[in-house]
Amino acid sequence: MSIATARYGSVARAFHWAIAVAILINLPLGLFGDAIQQVTGPVMPTHKSIGLTVLALSIARLVWRLGHPAPPEPAGMGALERRVAPVIHWALYALMILVPLTGYAMSSAGNRPLDWFGLFPVAKLPVTRDTLLYELSHEGHEILGLTLGALAIGHILAALRHHFILKDGVLRRMIG
Ligand code: HEM
Ligand code: HEM
Repeated sequence: MSIATARYGSVARAFHWAIAVAILINLPLGLFGDAIQQVTGPVMPTHKSIGLTVLALSIARLVWRLGHPAPPEPAGMGALERRVAPVIHWALYALMILVPLTGYAMSSAGNRPLDWFGLFPVAKLPVTRDTLLYELSHEGHEILGLTLGALAIGHILAALRHHFILKDGVLRRMIG
């Protein structure tokens, strides 16, 4: 069992954790928004503001990542995981952008104004109801949102397996 020494850089780690926390808050707000707002008052403006933040951060993160490769994989990693992990990671990058983008497109077609935590208005995308783009973004937001949730759970279980069962230092690459 080899111990991974190479780590993700501080910018990659900051992006990872800021976006992870935001998504892990936003998934339940999207899924259980109706039930939550019975207790707390409106949650969708917060869901949209957090989501728009994830969109901006994820685009910046992807651009950063393209110029900054991940550290080399730990030597002890199995052949299957060596193939699967990058596929899951790139799928997460795609969904981190597509899920908020479809939410943004869908909400642009609605009547309610968009803003960022009530601080400033956010321009709407040119999407109107009764268009295929609206239908696709609405369906897409739900299906891709659930896919993101499922992949995130698998990803987190994989990280915990590395830490507690394999004890190979992979989680520390992202914490350090
Ligand atoms: C981290 C980013 C986001 C995640 C993970 C996320 C996730 C979700 C999920 C899982 C749902 C429930 C889908 C369903 O069961 O119908 C949902 C609903 C919704 N989301 Fe998002 N979302 C994100 C960003 C956004 C953004 C940026 C907007 C708009 C600016 C938005 C607007 C909405 C709206 C309006 C609904 C309710 C849709 C409906 O009930 O028909 N979301 N979101
Ligand atoms: C929804 C939440 C999350 C998302 C979207 C996410 C996304 C990602 C992505 C895209 C990468 C690849 C980074 C790259 O190569 O540029 C990554 C790496 C990593 N994530 Fe997450 N992550 C999430 C939550 C978590 C959590 C909660 C943990 C810990 C329990 C975690 C642990 C890790 C680790 C250890 C790596 C590095 C894997 C390696 O060294 O190959 N992630 N994550």
